[in-house]
Amino acid sequence: MKKLLMIAILILGAAVLLAGGGPLVDAQTAQNIPKEKVYRIERSMPKEAIACIQCHKNEHPGLFSDWADSRHANANITCFDCHKAEEFDPDVSKSHYKQYERSDQKYGTQEYKVPVTAIVTPKDCSRCHPDEAKQYARSKHANTLEIIWQIDPWLKKGMNSDFERATGCFYCHGTILKMTDGQLDPETWPNVGVGRINMDGSRGSCSSCHTRHRFSVMEARKPEACGQCHLGPDHPQIEIYMESKHGDIYTAFGDSYNWNAAPGTWSPGVDFRGPTCASCHMSGAGSVLTSHDVTERLSWEIQAPLTIRPEDFKPFPAKTNWKIERDKMKEICTQCHGKTWVDAHYVTLDKVVHEYNEVYFKPAKKKLNELYDKGLLDKTKFFDERLEVEFYELWHHEGRRARMGAAMMAPDYAWWHGFYECKKRFSNYMEEANDLIKHNKKAYVAKDFPNATGNTTRPPQTMPRGK
Ligand code: HEC
Ligand code: HEC
Ligand code: HEC
Ligand code: HEC
Ligand code: HEC
Ligand code: HEC
Ligand code: HEC
Ligand code: HEC
Repeated sequence: MKKLLMIAILILGAAVLLAGGGPLVDAQTAQNIPKEKVYRIERSMPKEAIACIQCHKNEHPGLFSDWADSRHANANITCFDCHKAEEFDPDVSKSHYKQYERSDQKYGTQEYKVPVTAIVTPKDCSRCHPDEAKQYARSKHANTLEIIWQIDPWLKKGMNSDFERATGCFYCHGTILKMTDGQLDPETWPNVGVGRINMDGSRGSCSSCHTRHRFSVMEARKPEACGQCHLGPDHPQIEIYMESKHGDIYTAFGDSYNWNAAPGTWSPGVDFRGPTCASCHMSGAGSVLTSHDVTERLSWEIQAPLTIRPEDFKPFPAKTNWKIERDKMKEICTQCHGKTWVDAHYVTLDKVVHEYNEVYFKPAKKKLNELYDKGLLDKTKFFDERLEVEFYELWHHEGRRARMGAAMMAPDYAWWHGFYECKKRFSNYMEEANDLIKHNKKAYVAKDFPNATGNTTRPPQTMPRGK
């Protein structure tokens, strides 16, 4: 970081700048004229960087205030520090050059002209936050597009439309950014999915959890930040959390938590009395360090069809040792709980995993294979025969909910939305499967399966790369 920039200080709220200084409006003609944000620059800054701030203060007062209230503004990190580009960068904003041909704006002249980009990637942030960016780059979050293109039948078998993917899957998982005619392609932008693939090759978007331009740790520490994506029938972590005692404590006492504790110092018992998603999965405590790799601290893949260890997850084997990771998570728990309490919790979790694998998943999978082998189910497409859908939902919906509910202390998800539903689905599935086998009858194939038009060519950007 430039020392000069660090030494100088921006004083916010020190002076009133009445730009435009229009006449006072009376009640009759009053419109929604926003109050100008109080702001003064009190030191040297490149003139190009001052231009961004001054012009955008008028053009986008909402965006400007977010930045002005951020720690970045406080530390003198300007628009230009993040949005700087080279003329030949593929993601440079060609349309922005026009802003320097304006007569209505003091700063809209050639004197201030510099190339900018709308995209600010983990690689850009890594100039000042190398550790966070490195941890993030090896996480499943960053690499999720690689993973889903390997294993997901919706994408691989083209069972949904490109538009359904854009408004669903890729909103959470991320798009592959693309420019068309000098503009960001609307099919890929706007997007802040966790695994967005950027034009500089980096993966992810830091604003998934730290929305711009506040970039606050407070926001990311709250469960709602994760709940944007971690919800719904197949991964209801936010619902599970809100049902748990930890969520109950958050609801009751969250207002008194010290959400703004300095990065890396947010401590159980000191700053909060019940953990959030971030406390258990990311923030440091005891000897466990803060990490932007959410795969750390996990000892199971409880989202997978067959529960396995993270290092045995073939599409993206974790470079971790599950025993060490489990000990790390336990150390988080023991900031507030005794060892017996925590060990007992894990004994139960392991039993749940075993029961799900042996009683539900393995027999259902065996039956599915039998149907394929006998030619009663057709392998070319997935989801166009009812038993395929039933099998999918057994592991992907209630099978996950049972395991997640048990892992994160939510009995309603472990049982009513979990194992209870597993039992029901399993029984119906077996009945129908055995009936087809008994009568040697081919399953009905939905010829009119709607909108199975998605592109099935795997984008080259999602191929594994050197990690
Ligand atoms: C004279 C006014 C002016 C100046 C100076 C200016 N901008 Fe802008 N900028 C705008 C306006 C207006 C827009 C919105 C254009 C639109 O909505 O089509 C914009 C858009 C942007 C965008 C989005 C571009 C896109 O393609 O979506 C970014 C990023 C941006 N500005 C950053 C900067 C940075 C960084 C600087 C300083 C290096 C800067 N601007 C200087 C007026 C300005
Ligand atoms: C700490 C880095 C950082 C700073 C400082 C910063 N930005 Fe951004 N800006 C971002 C990120 C990240 C995004 C989201 C882009 C993405 O998803 O790749 C963004 C997006 C934008 C956009 C497009 C978003 C939209 O909603 O249209 C504009 C315009 C913009 N910034 C202007 C500015 C201006 C003006 C300033 C200074 C007042 C500024 N930025 C300061 C990181 C920064
Ligand atoms: C030019 C250097 C620079 C760049 C580029 C930069 N940051 Fe920062 N960032 C800083 C500094 C310096 C601080 C510490 C400010 C402080 O402690 O007051 C900071 C603080 C933060 C914080 C902690 C805020 C808080 O509430 O305590 C977050 C989160 C953050 N940055 C995210 C990002 C993201 C995301 C990007 C990329 C979009 C980014 N930064 C780009 C220098 C930078
Ligand atoms: C609301 C956000 C959201 C949407 C929409 C969404 N996902 Fe996901 N997806 C997630 C989250 C969160 C997880 C992590 C689940 C877990 O670990 O419990 C996930 C997990 C996955 C996984 C498992 C990855 C692994 O490591 O095994 C695949 C594959 C996947 N999603 C594919 C898709 C596809 C394909 C679509 C669209 C048809 C889609 N998702 C739509 C949020 C979403
Ligand atoms: C999955 C959500 C999530 C994403 C995505 C994310 N962060 Fe964070 N970040 C957090 C949380 C939670 C904290 C607070 C950790 C703590 O309690 O100190 C944090 C803290 C930080 C801090 C403060 C220093 C620290 O390590 O505690 C910086 C800087 C930061 N993030 C930068 C980034 C950058 C750069 C990226 C993109 C590469 C990024 N973050 C992406 C959740 C996220
Ligand atoms: C923008 C969407 C989004 C947000 C926000 C988000 N996640 Fe995720 N998360 C995902 C997706 C998608 C996956 C699945 C990645 C995969 O397995 O391919 C995932 C996976 C995970 C995993 C499983 C990792 C593994 O190795 O199996 C954990 C744990 C996790 N997220 C925790 C968090 C936490 C904690 C937060 C908030 C601080 C958060 N996530 C915020 C989308 C999101
Ligand atoms: C009390 C601590 C705690 C809290 C709070 C918590 N989790 Fe978890 N989470 C766990 C434990 C323990 C596991 C199972 C770990 C293992 O594999 O050993 C887990 C598993 C997960 C997984 C499954 C990872 C996989 O791939 O199988 C995801 C995703 C996840 N948590 C996300 C979240 C989100 C999002 C929140 C907040 C809404 C949250 N967690 C809150 C402790 C917690
Ligand atoms: C910041 C402190 C804190 C952390 C960290 C924490 N817990 Fe808790 N936990 C609590 C408190 C407080 C309660 C409420 C106890 C009560 O019922 O009086 C609680 C309750 C529980 C319960 C009881 C749930 C119920 O509904 O009866 C379980 C089980 C539990 N925690 C397990 C864990 C595990 C496992 C971890 C680590 C993965 C963990 N906790 C991390 C503070 C914490």
